[in-house]
Formats: sequence, structure tokens, C-alpha cells
Amino acid sequence: MKIVFATHNQHKLEEVRELLPSFVELLSLTDIGCLEEIPETGKTLEENAKIKADYVTSTFGLNCFSDDTGLLIDALHGAPGVYSARYAGTQKSTPDNIAKVLREMESTNNRAAHFKTVVHLNLKNESYSFDGIVEGNITKKKYGTGGFGYDPIFKPEGHEVTFGEMSPEIKNAISHRGRAIRKLMAFFEKIEQ
Ligand code: IMP
Repeated sequence: MKIVFATHNQHKLEEVRELLPSFVELLSLTDIGCLEEIPETGKTLEENAKIKADYVTSTFGLNCFSDDTGLLIDALHGAPGVYSARYAGTQKSTPDNIAKVLREMESTNNRAAHFKTVVHLNLKNESYSFDGIVEGNITKKKYGTGGFGYDPIFKPEGHEVTFGEMSPEIKNAISHRGRAIRKLMAFFEKIEQ
């Protein structure tokens, strides 16, 4: 069964491909000739994930899933949330995004936050949604150089180090994206039977 993962990110694609049952043939946006950036105009992670998957299904007539992730910080009333990639501006600079978060949280001791990933799947005229959440705390400065995005300032609950200090294997085992993708994999395995 062919299915599109609505991403241009080769790293994400390979990560997911490794987890998939062998009857699923995974294609990227590049593989299907969809070279444009699909606009993420939704106000929630759920809306954005649906917009991306629906775009591919309606334009190319293909089964498709997509993911959308955000960091939601309690003291910032859920920001940066759906705007995580472009929190400090459309240049999508990770150092600028982190600096903005740390600046806005300078005077608060409420460090609670969570990452959330939503996966939207369109399969044979039905749609499904899966999510993955990891709770944690925002540190007062950056720790570690691993991972990407807000990893150096996010310390997952029950751990003494940030995502930026963890190996990719440990991060994947507990992360928001890992959790959502494993729910998707479990779904694929169930329908195979
Ligand atoms: P996307 O929906 O996966 O493209 O994620 C949107 C933005 O959320 C990214 O540009 C990052 O800033 C942030 N983000 C997503 N996943 C992670 C993660 O695992 N660690 C740190 N930041 C992340």
C-alpha cells in the first residue's frame, strides 16, 4: 500500500520509514512531485496537520498522513504553540525563537510546558487523528547541542537533562513525535490483520 508522508524533511521520513510495517510503501512530497510549501494557515496543530494531509489527498488523489508539532508553555498561555517554528519571525530562526522564550519567561518560576504532535491520516476516504504529548519544564538557559528546535531548553519530566543533551534513541523513545508515530504504526499493524 502506497502512502505519502506530507513532509520535505528527509530526516523525519527515514525515521518513520524504519518503523513502518513492510506492506506500507512510504513516499515523500518530493517523490510525488509536490515541490511547493503547503501553507500552514490553521489556528491549531490539528487544523494544520489536516490542511497538509487534505492538500495532498485532494490534489494528488493519494492516501496521506502529515504531522504538526508545537511547544506549549503554561506561563505563556500555550505559546508558542502552533507558531513554534516562526515565534520570533518568519525567518524561522531557532536561536531567535529560544531567546524570545527565555526572555519572556525571565521573571516567572512557572516553567511547566509540553510538546504536542498531531498526526492526521487520510486513508481510503476515512480520516484518523493520533497525538503524542511529553510534559516537562523550560530551563533558564540552553543545555546541550543535540536535536533541533527548542530541545536545548526542554527538560522532559522524570529526566535530569534536556532533549538537547539526550541521544536521538532516548529522545525518540519518550518524545511527543515518537509517541504519535507509534500510535500510527499500531494502527497500520492492526489494519494489516
Ligand atoms: P514541525 O511541525 O515538526 O515542523 O515543528 C514545528 C516547530 O516546532 C519546529 O520548527 C520546532 O521549532 C518545534 N519542534 C518540533 N518538534 C520539536 C522537537 O522535537 N524538539 C524541539 N523543537 C521541536
